[in-house]
Amino acid sequence: MTLAPPPSSRVQLTEDGKLRHFLSVEHVSRSLLEEILDTAASFVDVGGRAIKKVPLLRGKTVVNLFFESSTRTRSTFELAAKRLSADVLNLDISKSATSKGETLLDTLRNLEAMAADMFVVRHQDSGAPFFIANEVTPQVAVINAGDGRHAHPTQAMLDMYTIRHYKGGFAGLRVAIVGDILHSRVARSQAHALNALGAAEVRLIGPRTLLPVDAEGLGVTVFTDMAQGLKDVDVVIMLRLQKERMDSALLPSEGEFFRLYGLTNEKLRHAKPDAIVMHPGPINRGVEIASEVADGPRSVILNQVTFGIAVRMAVMSMAISGQESSQNPEQGGEHGR
Ligand code: CP
Repeated sequence: MTLAPPPSSRVQLTEDGKLRHFLSVEHVSRSLLEEILDTAASFVDVGGRAIKKVPLLRGKTVVNLFFESSTRTRSTFELAAKRLSADVLNLDISKSATSKGETLLDTLRNLEAMAADMFVVRHQDSGAPFFIANEVTPQVAVINAGDGRHAHPTQAMLDMYTIRHYKGGFAGLRVAIVGDILHSRVARSQAHALNALGAAEVRLIGPRTLLPVDAEGLGVTVFTDMAQGLKDVDVVIMLRLQKERMDSALLPSEGEFFRLYGLTNEKLRHAKPDAIVMHPGPINRGVEIASEVADGPRSVILNQVTFGIAVRMAVMSMAISGQESSQNPEQGGEHGR
C-alpha cells in the first residue's frame, strides 16, 4: 500500500484551529506548537508523584496500532494514556486478523465498534495516519506515531521540549541533525518544528547519498563535513542508520560511516562547549555514536525519553479536547486545559 500524505495537514485541526488529530508538525502554527510544549510542562511532575495519574481521559479508550516495531514510542504512549487515566488497548498486529487478510479499514471499523476514542498509529507507509484520520468516525482522534519516511511529530515535539528545557528557548540556536537524513521521518519533523519555533539555523550533516534531494526546501543548511557542520552548534541530534529502509549501495560500510560521521568526543569539540547531544533512539553504538558520547555528560538521550511521556500526554489530551469541542462547540472540550 502506498499512501501519499495530503499537501496540507488541515485535517488535523478543528475549524477554530485546535488540535483534533496530530499527524504532522508541518503547517502547524508556532502558537499551537508552543501550546503543546506548555501543556507538556504542566504534566512533567505527574511522573514524580506517588500516584502517577490525572483524570483527564478517564472513561476514554486509546488503541495503540503499531504496524512497525517500537520500544520508546509505544511504551511512552501507553504510559501517557494510563497517566491520563484512559483505558489502553495494545493491538498485537502480528497476532491480529490482519495476518488472515483483514484490511486496515475493516480492522479500524471493528475497533470503532468497540467504542475506541483514539488510535495511535505507527505504519511503514507514509500517509497511513492521514488516510486513517480521513476514514474514522468524527469522535475518534488519530495520532501519528511515525509513518514511513514522512513524519514522527510527537518525537519532534519531545525533542523540542528537551531543547527548550536545556537551552531556555530557540532564539539564536544552531541545531545540527546528523546522519541518515534521507530515511528519517524524525529529521523532517524536527526541521519543520525548529523552523516554526524560531531556531536561528538548522543544519543537516551527512554523506550526499543519505541527504534528501529536497533538503534545501526544508529551510536548512546542508553540510557533508562534520567539522564544518558541527562548528559552534548548540544542539547535536544524531540519527540512527535506518538499514531496514536502505539500499546497500548508499553506504560504503558502517566502519567508514563511523569514521566520517560517527559522533566521538573528538568531533564533538567542534560544537559549543555547552552543546547537548540528542538521539531519538534506538542508538547503534559504534555506528552513529560512540559510547563515550552516548553515556557522557552532554548526552540528554534518556531525558528525551522521560519528557516524551509528558509530551504525549499533552498531545493526547489536546486532541481529545479538540474532538469534543468540534462535536459540542457550545460546551468546548471538557478536557481543555
Ligand atoms: N524514537 C523512536 O521512535 O523509537 P522507537 O522506534 O523505539 O519507538
